[in-house]
Amino acid sequence: MLIGKVSVENNLIFAPLSGITDSPTRIIARCFGAGLVFSEMISCEGLIRHHKKTEELLYFTPEERPIAFQIFGFNPENMADAAFIAYEKGADIIDLNFGCPVKKIIKSKSGSYLLQFPEKIAKIIACVRRKINIPLTIKIRAGWDLEHVNACDIAKIAQDEGADAVIIHPRTQTQMFRGISDWEIIRKVKNTIQQIPVIGNGDILTPQDASRMFNETGCDAVMIGRGALGNPWIFKNIEHFIKTGEILNPPAIEEKIKMALHHMESEVQYKGEKRGVRESYKVLFWYLKGLPDAVSVRQKIIKHDNFNEIKNILEKYMEDGVKNE
Ligand SMILES: Cc1cc2nc3c(=O)[nH]c(=O)nc-3n(C[C@H](O)[C@H](O)[C@H](O)COP(=O)(O)O)c2cc1C
Repeated sequence: MLIGKVSVENNLIFAPLSGITDSPTRIIARCFGAGLVFSEMISCEGLIRHHKKTEELLYFTPEERPIAFQIFGFNPENMADAAFIAYEKGADIIDLNFGCPVKKIIKSKSGSYLLQFPEKIAKIIACVRRKINIPLTIKIRAGWDLEHVNACDIAKIAQDEGADAVIIHPRTQTQMFRGISDWEIIRKVKNTIQQIPVIGNGDILTPQDASRMFNETGCDAVMIGRGALGNPWIFKNIEHFIKTGEILNPPAIEEKIKMALHHMESEVQYKGEKRGVRESYKVLFWYLKGLPDAVSVRQKIIKHDNFNEIKNILEKYMEDGVKNE
């Protein structure tokens, strides 16, 4: 698939997830078959003021490429300047966040707040477009609320202002993450804009879901967020299912635990022992979810903040599990 001039090796994309899609997590997603990865949303105001913590979010390694950096904000010139900073750091694609529904972002008149003001969105896209000549995408929700579903209008604006793809998560701001996403809106967006790809997103948890989203909406690519947490295998599984109609066996417990440890170790290498462990308990727990005795292993793990101790616990768990199999 092409997004502007950037070639993406398949049509499976790992979603931006705040506090989650850092460099180690993106490397894993790419190795397991995601064709494109996204940074978490990055504050444009933080970038233009050179806030250290914000700038850290631009870190990436060559094996993650192609990589999209997602920025949020409300001031068109500042968004353009921030996009330029991300471009200079090596971004392949810039994505503008018009979908985040959380209170803090809405209060700052950014994210999905802007869906109420299509003319402001047009200005931001135009301003960023003039400043950078790498591909530009936008990520939107269905609209502000069910009485104001305007994803098709926003998608049309994006196309007219020179964006290279539209990503749509068809829930409204007021829905937050409740209920199920309305894929019919993805189909409508796809029918509205003919010149640039439409990327569908929302509630893909299995290869069958991905296949159904392609079939029901005609979207050009699918984006997977929560369904890939602790399950990077999902990308290859989707590819295999779409090619052959077969479902691959789930990874063995041992493979899952090894992957969990590899993921945590990568975080420790990236962030240092203390922060790496503290911020990746959640990573381990995604992989452990649903495994036998997961709750008691979790309780043991959170008593430790040293990677090697956690590794010993999980290796013991793995040995016991394999013995019992
Ligand atoms: C913990 C979490 C953090 C998220 N952070 C972002 C973000 O930084 N930028 C963004 O555009 N969407 C963000 N999203 C939304 C996801 O990218 C995606 O649109 C949503 O989760 C629906 O897709 P899914 O059902 O495959 O998870 C976040 C979602 C979650 C659950």
